Amino acid sequence: MKNLEELLKQETFSDEEIAYLLGLTGTDECNQLRTAAYDLTTELLGTEVYYRGIVEFSNLCELDCHYCGIRNGNDEVERYSLTQEQVVDAALWCGEVGYGSTVLQSGERHSPEYIDFVENSIREIKTKSISETLPEGLGITLSVGEQTLETYKRFHEAGAHRYLLRIETTNPELYAKIHPADQKLEERKKCLDYLREAGFQVGTGVMIGIPGQTIDMLVQDIRFFQSMDIDMIGMGPYISHHQSCMYDKSMMDVEPLLQLAFNMIAVVRLVLRDVNIAATTALQALLKNGREVGISYGANITMPNLTPREVRPSYQLYEGKPCIDEGRADCHGCLQKRVESVGRTVGWNKWGDSKHYMKKSL
Ligand code: 5AD
Ligand code: FES
Repeated sequence: MKNLEELLKQETFSDEEIAYLLGLTGTDECNQLRTAAYDLTTELLGTEVYYRGIVEFSNLCELDCHYCGIRNGNDEVERYSLTQEQVVDAALWCGEVGYGSTVLQSGERHSPEYIDFVENSIREIKTKSISETLPEGLGITLSVGEQTLETYKRFHEAGAHRYLLRIETTNPELYAKIHPADQKLEERKKCLDYLREAGFQVGTGVMIGIPGQTIDMLVQDIRFFQSMDIDMIGMGPYISHHQSCMYDKSMMDVEPLLQLAFNMIAVVRLVLRDVNIAATTALQALLKNGREVGISYGANITMPNLTPREVRPSYQLYEGKPCIDEGRADCHGCLQKRVESVGRTVGWNKWGDSKHYMKKSL
């Protein structure tokens, strides 16, 4: 293997080189990786980190992903759905305080009433958020799982323009192990194609440290992101939840797990270059300043939580989720300091779309 300094200057990487970078553990080496990814982020995307205020509007879910705390089969979690007024109010608040974009996320459902609800919420947010500072209204990202092409088209037409659908893992055997038999990897891939066809900026990602996952599988995940020409990436460590079906399967030790997650952010930055990468909340569940460290490894997006405090405890996909006792205003004050602590600025009142996507649409 070449020396690390030389390797980090490359613009393309072999599978073997990607695996080597993902597996770095030494403090000096990891710092070199971090600096390379951080500097490349600054060079390609500037110093701004963009906010997407996230509204987790319902934890009702038809799926049964083995790892997830709100899977359908978990009878112990209290289920909730916000009203349209609550969803719109939360999203509009985020526009008022300068976040520029919102993410609407919920468990996966398919009933016509649910689809109408999402569509109507998007429309109302879009119309009501138009202001002098946001002449085109809030940027809206959706994260409501696998839907039909027609449904995706309706959501896009209503005004959502970005969509997050994690592939979780691209390894067929591992995917089959962590999902019920009727949830298929191929189906999820098809949905990513549909999202592109419907006109969305497409985001995906994986969980890192899933029991049975290897470094080589993560290399293939990165190759998948490349082959799908993905615009946005959201990845986080796998964290066990005591009401999930995988509670007995061991989770990686926190320290190596976090390092692997940070390395994965940095390597995705080096390989995919100008995509948006989120510093996800799951990082902060394992480390108090996990999101800032994620930013220092090349992430450029963060998602402040706008979910009303009363229902936050019921949207725990994994254990130790931070900010359960906080309200949206607390998260607002806290986050700017965190972003600035790693030498970044906040891109107030901007959509902060993926440069990778914008380049394609020129
Ligand atoms: N640990 C980490 N991430 C999880 N997710 C669901 N359950 C867990 C868990 N136990 C993630 C999945 C899903 C996203 C909404 O939350 O990647 O796509
Ligand atoms: Fe699939 Fe929650 S049930 S991620």
